[in-house]
Amino acid sequence: MEHATRDAAVLLGQARRVVVFTGAGMSAESGVPTFRDALTGLWRRFDAQALATPEAFHDDPALVWGWYEWRRSAVRRARPNAGHRAVAAIEARIPDSVLITQNVDDLHERAGSAAPVHLHGSLFAPRCAACARPAPAPDGVAEEPADGRRVPPPRCGHCAGLVRPGVVWFGEALPQEALAAAVEAASACDLLITVGTSGLVYPAAEIPHLAARRGAAVIQVNPDETPLDRVADVNLRGPAAQALPALVEAAWGGTDLRAG
Ligand code: OAD
Repeated sequence: MEHATRDAAVLLGQARRVVVFTGAGMSAESGVPTFRDALTGLWRRFDAQALATPEAFHDDPALVWGWYEWRRSAVRRARPNAGHRAVAAIEARIPDSVLITQNVDDLHERAGSAAPVHLHGSLFAPRCAACARPAPAPDGVAEEPADGRRVPPPRCGHCAGLVRPGVVWFGEALPQEALAAAVEAASACDLLITVGTSGLVYPAAEIPHLAARRGAAVIQVNPDETPLDRVADVNLRGPAAQALPALVEAAWGGTDLRAG
């Protein structure tokens, strides 16, 4: 067994209050592109950071709504990976654990995590851009063409305003309730496991640093170096769908992580 996995397993075995903090790398092995991956098809000429803004939606609602519908249909086709199932196994094993995710997909939920804290919202929680009332996520999303398409957003059933994706855009505040829950959990945990995040986008990226400052041990799962290397007590240099099951196996043995 790799030395780092053994060290991480000791920390996990001793932990009583665990926070798992995930980013786009968590879903990479499910085929969902990370945020920094180049966009493909119709979106290849766009920079995600240019599309994920209130201004982009105001200027061209069909372009931005179409991009999120393309991402949502990709998520619907994707399946949770063994890393998502390992996170759910950690939560099942340690009752006082909190999952905080920057991801807007629903793969943690589909892997059995009961209540992830979505710091950046969700592709499955659209709302009215005018009155903020929740709007149904269009179920009848046809299989999106591989290169995506523009789709005029639906209208709010209450005020006829445009429905927007329920995700946090650049320049927007994070949902206050989710951020408060994340700060509370990170401040109180004795172990934080950060998985698949570049640790570049604040205030979410502050969460692992906050836990470390409060004395928690930090395990990082990422094939690449990130700014979180300097706060991690253990770096598991590998993909989430391999490193997390290996960690759970090393800590508790025999946990069944096969797809449900
Ligand atoms: P990024 O795309 O910035 O970073 C993905 C991280 O995952 C990188 O550090 C990769 O090295 C790592 N990675 C890639 N494949 C992996 C794998 N198989 N297993 C583990 N790690 C892997 O995504 P985030 O850090 O999540 O915000 O980005 C944070 C936020 O930036 C996003 O939530 C989004 C974006 O702005 C909003 O949309 C508000």
